[in-house]
Amino acid sequence: MNFELTQLPVEDIQGDLELIIVIDNNTNHVFVQDKKLLKKAGFKGGQDETCLLVSKNRLYVGADSALSKDIRTAAANAIKALKGTGYKSIKVATYLYRNRCTNSLRAMVEGFILGAYSFEQYKTKKNENKIKHITVSLDEYNGYKINIEKASIAVHNAQITADATNFTRDIVNTTPDDCYPDVMAAIAEAMSNVTGLKCKVLKPKALRKEKMETLLAVARASRHKPRVIHLTHKPKNAKCVVTLVGKGLTYDSGGLSLKPADFMVTMKSDKSGGSAVLGIMKAVSEMNLPVEVHGFVGAVENMIGGDAYKPDDVLVAKNGKTIEIRNTDAEGRLVLADTLCYAQQEVKSDYLFDFATLTGACVVGVGHYTSGVMGNSDEIKSLVVDAAKRSGELATALDFNPYLKKTIKSEIADVCNISNTRYGGAITAGQFLSEFIDEDHKDKWAHIDIAGPAFVEHAWGENPFGASGAGVRLMVKLIEKLAESQEK
Ligand code: BES
Ligand code: ZN
Ligand code: ZN
Repeated sequence: MNFELTQLPVEDIQGDLELIIVIDNNTNHVFVQDKKLLKKAGFKGGQDETCLLVSKNRLYVGADSALSKDIRTAAANAIKALKGTGYKSIKVATYLYRNRCTNSLRAMVEGFILGAYSFEQYKTKKNENKIKHITVSLDEYNGYKINIEKASIAVHNAQITADATNFTRDIVNTTPDDCYPDVMAAIAEAMSNVTGLKCKVLKPKALRKEKMETLLAVARASRHKPRVIHLTHKPKNAKCVVTLVGKGLTYDSGGLSLKPADFMVTMKSDKSGGSAVLGIMKAVSEMNLPVEVHGFVGAVENMIGGDAYKPDDVLVAKNGKTIEIRNTDAEGRLVLADTLCYAQQEVKSDYLFDFATLTGACVVGVGHYTSGVMGNSDEIKSLVVDAAKRSGELATALDFNPYLKKTIKSEIADVCNISNTRYGGAITAGQFLSEFIDEDHKDKWAHIDIAGPAFVEHAWGENPFGASGAGVRLMVKLIEKLAESQEK
């Protein structure tokens, strides 16, 4: 999809179709030429409404406000409404929120790209989006003057962010037989060849040398050998150092604590955290942000077999802590424990974030659309929650407490991989991870449980059926903020 910015008013632009966003039910605005027709069609201008006037080559979509979040979904709804039509190009005005900054423009472009996404790799008949060209007029709906330089940066960053989100969606949607740990490593390597990121891949021999025995135990029963991926973006003018760690379970059968059939379906999405890290690294390098960013992915398949790790085993993590296994389905935290230890050994960072589809409990607690943000520092949690809001993602803080901490105690080892209570499972998983964060990183770390939004079996907002790319927009926004504000 191509974007072109122009100072020309919309009526002077070439384009198959004009898109008009109706803000706040304002079907009486001067912009709206087709009031009678829209009334006849029953179009009221609500957020999820669209009305295509084929004879006029105009598409109307509603938005509750010109806030980024509403413009983003309105743009996505517009593109979706055109699916199956013959239109190939669109022209559209700019819609800014009161403060006149270009955030809403960025959101609109993101909405077009995110809304146009479909995953059709396994379809014999493709029904891909046909819109190839979008011309955006800087003629603003409220008459605001827009700085063309700022506008083109907004469009450029929107394209990078949304393309990276779609890149992550593709990885997550790919089936476990087509995307196993070595394939994730190959994706990272291919990406590093194009972007200039540095890429290092650890195979079992190196993992054993690094004493990543818990990760290796989870991987043991799979015919697909594990990989740990380390991508580096190291600009000369880096203002701070950020480490990202992702859970990359290319399949989670549950292991010997086997998942019931209905719960196993969709577990190809258990690689969403690692896939998000790959997408974030892609965006960060393409934007060439002045922040040093390291992305680590623990890529493993959790299967059953004669040599599977077992409930009752005690494993020794890379940092020497012993873990009593009581449920092999709580495997993500084991893979993350070693990957977090390795990441902290390799890089001393100012910020450490991990992304994981870690617990069903997080989905129960906050629903399908929201990520849970945990950690020891209120400041870091707020940083993540705020960035999520500004990026179009939903996230909420889930606070640790000392009472839940006691529920992961073990009688025979340093810690147990599950809690002794069925409640508060997202938080106890987060507190388990905190056992593997060293003293220096304790207040620099946040754990982001994306189990809810990473993969949803229906379309929502600008997200399609299946993988959403959760975490990518959020973290790109956060790193952009660090690039603007931090001094080393
Ligand atoms: N990958 C799952 C968590 C999950 C569940 C992600 C639903 C996305 C949707 C994780 O490995 C898991 O199985 N967690 C267990 C933990 C339990 C055994 C303590 C869970 O949530 O049931
Ligand atoms: Zn599991
Ligand atoms: Zn899992």
